[in-house]
Amino acid sequence: MKKVDVILGLQWGDEGKGKVVDVLTPRYEVVARFQGGPNAGHTLEFGGEKYVLRSIPSGIFQGGKANIIGNGVVLDAILFRKEAEELARSGHDLTRQLSISKKAHLILPTHRMLDAAYEAAKGSARIGTTGKGIGPTYTDKVSRNGMRVGDLLKPDFAEIYAAAKARHERILRSLHFDYDIAELEREWFEAVEYLKRFRLIDSEYALNAALRADKAVLAEGAQGTLLDVDFGSYPFVTSSNTVSAGVCTGLGVAPNRIGEVFGIFKAYCTRVGSGPFPTELFDETGTELRRIGHEYGAVTGRERRCGWLDLVALKYAIMINGVTQLIMMKADVMNDFDTIRVATAYRVDGVETTEFPYSIDDRVEPVYTDFEGWRCDLRACRSYEDFPAPFKRYVDFIERETGVPVKIVSVGPDRGETVIR
Ligand code: GDP
Ligand code: IMO
Ligand code: MG
Repeated sequence: MKKVDVILGLQWGDEGKGKVVDVLTPRYEVVARFQGGPNAGHTLEFGGEKYVLRSIPSGIFQGGKANIIGNGVVLDAILFRKEAEELARSGHDLTRQLSISKKAHLILPTHRMLDAAYEAAKGSARIGTTGKGIGPTYTDKVSRNGMRVGDLLKPDFAEIYAAAKARHERILRSLHFDYDIAELEREWFEAVEYLKRFRLIDSEYALNAALRADKAVLAEGAQGTLLDVDFGSYPFVTSSNTVSAGVCTGLGVAPNRIGEVFGIFKAYCTRVGSGPFPTELFDETGTELRRIGHEYGAVTGRERRCGWLDLVALKYAIMINGVTQLIMMKADVMNDFDTIRVATAYRVDGVETTEFPYSIDDRVEPVYTDFEGWRCDLRACRSYEDFPAPFKRYVDFIERETGVPVKIVSVGPDRGETVIR
């Protein structure tokens, strides 16, 4: 019986999960998303084309492999339809390739309004969400008020919807939030009908059957470990379990069925939205990382905050996920840097620690180790031997500190710009 391999982000999202899932898909027969929703923006580039996926797994471009949207995902029918129709226009009709779990929860138009209303009510303490209704939808799931994809097949779907909407409207009124969802609602009802073109399945059965039939399955995460609702920089997190444990609940596979855990990290750090970020750079170097790395949100277009690689946070993420192989992204962005810094500890009130603290505030000060820059174009490298010595020293250091091998190094956005060791 095969195991499920997992690809997930070890930082604050946007590590390059989409690219790597696409690169590794030829090794698998099934690719499944296990959590998150259209807050994700996974970018893939090949053949001169660029695609941004939000809810659809990144395994769809590699020769008709089965792709599954798992039960742990929250689905916005309107955005899903736009995504699927755009892909169909570019020649990728997914109706036979993509299945959706009946147990995935539906994002309602009023969930988006609630997301905006809660953010407005928080004022300067706002999370800086993507505004896609993620928090309110997961809240309804856990409070047992949610609507699921499978409810579409029930004769009283419209009544279930009306009751949910009425409940949301009472909350929105109490928050004095003005909105008009008439148009959005019309679109939503059309979009949920559109969902019925896809196979709506009990994906836990499909996935376990695939494993029993010795088919290789890859689970694709969204967001990153430091945005995990339990282990991230709470409350500045998303509302799902982005960590490897989320694969079990988000796909219905048992813990002993998890195989390799591929942890993806950028050779530096970025973060979108509010919340602590110990190694954040507010100087010219931060601006350069943003400019060269095109660090703007794939979903919202917001500027991503940039900073040095943080090994305290990375080691924490490796521990929580049980990472077995590391994948380093975007080192090419620092090609022309003279010095590259890595945080190896934090100093809190004068005391050094290598543990990720319960709360991160201004008292947390990173302790850096400096590396000589490689000052050459990594994008031209296609094998590990091609890499310059200073870059190999940087990779060796990360492997030594974390105790996990760096098995893949991505040196550019294109599918082909990937070095596999
Ligand atoms: P995801 O959400 O984890 O899938 O990552 P995003 O797609 O949001 O952000 C990663 C961005 O970096 C995308 O624009 C990718 O095209 C780009 N990218 C991925 N890998 C590399 C790389 O190795 N080098 C460079 N320069 N860009 C990369
Ligand atoms: P991918 O999958 C980066 C951030 C938001 C905000 C916080 C909560 O592309 O890596 P939410 O809308 O989820 O309630 O917002 O999480 N966030 C992401 N940041 N990449 C993502 O996804 C993100 N998804 C959510 O910016 O700070
Ligand atoms: Mg992204």
